[in-house]
Amino acid sequence: MKIGILTGGGDCPGLNAVISSVARRSWDHGHELIGFKYGWRGVIEDDSIPLTRDVVRGIMREGGTILRSSGDNPAHGGDRPERALATLKKHQVDALIVIGGEGTMKGALTMHRDHGLAVVGVPKTIDNDLPGTELTVGFDSALAIATEALDRLATTAESHDRVMVCEVMGRTAGWLAMYAGIAGGADVILLPEMDMSVEEASEIVTRRHGQGRDSSLIVVGEGYNLRSTTGLFDDVNVEHELDAYGFPRLGGISNHVAHAVEQLTGFETRVTILGHVQRGGPPTARDRALASRFGFLAADLVHEGNFGQLVAQVGRDVLPVPLEQTEGDARVIPEDVFEFVRSFMG
Ligand code: F6P
Repeated sequence: MKIGILTGGGDCPGLNAVISSVARRSWDHGHELIGFKYGWRGVIEDDSIPLTRDVVRGIMREGGTILRSSGDNPAHGGDRPERALATLKKHQVDALIVIGGEGTMKGALTMHRDHGLAVVGVPKTIDNDLPGTELTVGFDSALAIATEALDRLATTAESHDRVMVCEVMGRTAGWLAMYAGIAGGADVILLPEMDMSVEEASEIVTRRHGQGRDSSLIVVGEGYNLRSTTGLFDDVNVEHELDAYGFPRLGGISNHVAHAVEQLTGFETRVTILGHVQRGGPPTARDRALASRFGFLAADLVHEGNFGQLVAQVGRDVLPVPLEQTEGDARVIPEDVFEFVRSFMG
């Protein structure tokens, strides 16, 4: 068989580890690999490279993606599906392994369901919000970076009696904010899913300082919508601007939070927005391991002709689930977890 592979959407650590794992297993099965550049765009615009042993050697530990990435995909309409099919036909590609998040999987489903493409999906995103799987490649690495950042912010906050507000990525899902906040010892964790006001956050800070603490750490998920119960501050809804692919362009809510907290508590409050630092650099060992398990299974599914599947983490297992499961709303933190998060605050 000739197997195509692509990485779509926002990059993250661990993409190369998936490519490496898919390649090893597929070569063991006697198949040939072709890599499409810039995600689905490379399939639509016929931009590819042969994935040889020389190209793939040593990439397991590398961040980013040797195939590059973009957010375009066939679900965006026009003649994209037809052009994608023509490219795949030209290169005699029998099946495609698609590594991506929500948008990239929409493209995979469109091509599989409407155009009969033999496709297998591998989930990645630092947001960990793709429905159908409990874990995505890249999440653990981003979490490690965010946690280390909080460790560093804690010591400088202490030296200067400051409140530090640290904003992490994750779009509408608070997984990164929640686990980084808990692991990094944050005193307040503001999640997109929880309706916590800046007054409540400030009360926690004021109470701590009343109990003899001179510094505090606040973690904010970038999708947090600012609420003010006193009406002293404008509510800020972060979801109004959209990027080229229709996703909300987030980032900056921490500035509003810090302003409100400083006003309400009287303590000097500084902001750190981690941004794309969370997506860069080498993957953690856990992400390399997850990527390896996902890549291995994806290659086996293709070999067996079991298409239309997403390789997924379900409980302790890595197994195939129907690609349709990636449809629908982002996988966010359920309400019954809020009490757990609250127990770490203050
Ligand atoms: O989905 C991954 C992610 O890093 C989000 O957490 C973030 O909001 C977004 O992508 C940033 O996208 P871009 O790199 O296009 O600015």
